[in-house]
Amino acid sequence: MLVVSLGGSPSQRSRSGVLLDRCQRWLQQHGVEVVSYQVRDFPAEDLLHARFDSPKVIDLLQQIENADGLLIATPVYKASFSGALKTVLDLLPERALSHKVVLPMATGGSIAHMLAVDYALKPVLSALKAQEMLQGIFAEDAQIAYGEGSVPARLAPELAQRLSEALEQFFSAMARHPKPLDPQWLNDRLLSARWSI
Ligand SMILES: Cc1cc2nc3c(=O)[nH]c(=O)nc-3n(C[C@H](O)[C@H](O)[C@H](O)COP(=O)(O)O)c2cc1C
Repeated sequence: MLVVSLGGSPSQRSRSGVLLDRCQRWLQQHGVEVVSYQVRDFPAEDLLHARFDSPKVIDLLQQIENADGLLIATPVYKASFSGALKTVLDLLPERALSHKVVLPMATGGSIAHMLAVDYALKPVLSALKAQEMLQGIFAEDAQIAYGEGSVPARLAPELAQRLSEALEQFFSAMARHPKPLDPQWLNDRLLSARWSI
């Protein structure tokens, strides 16, 4: 299984990034390969000028095409998801998430905007035709403590519990929805099988 992880925070030190790191570690322990992207790694010029042919965007798109699932996490900015993340999502084609299981996550300063995942992020992921969208996770800043030196980041027990339940669901949803076979790949396999008889 392959999962793409997309971080929507412009900040290097990022609580939503801590959630993604946790998810990545959990998935890797379950034998899943995770490829990680952060919005801040994309050239700003490519995003602001909506360059659909940006090599970094094409690379993301190819990884998504090969992936079974997408993890996406964003800070809440002004009651919505980050604008930087929107500039990346805007460059994906309309069916980019078809056949993908998606786990959306957000972190925010207070629970006042805990529904931002539902009313802001999920509609955009639906527009990209996500096949199965899980319930989503919202975490308050107070529930995530950054690591220092050799001390790892810590999640409040209630959040850690919710996250591991969401990951179990994400993992089984991906197992239930195996990626459709690429017709070209199938064709090549059939041809090579014939030649090898
Ligand atoms: C520009 C800006 C706007 C924000 N707006 C909100 C908001 O509307 N609601 C909220 O709950 N938190 C808001 N926050 C707090 C962040 O969502 C919160 O600290 C989040 O965990 C940051 O995630 P990150 O560390 O991954 O960047 C805002 C923070 C910034 C910098």
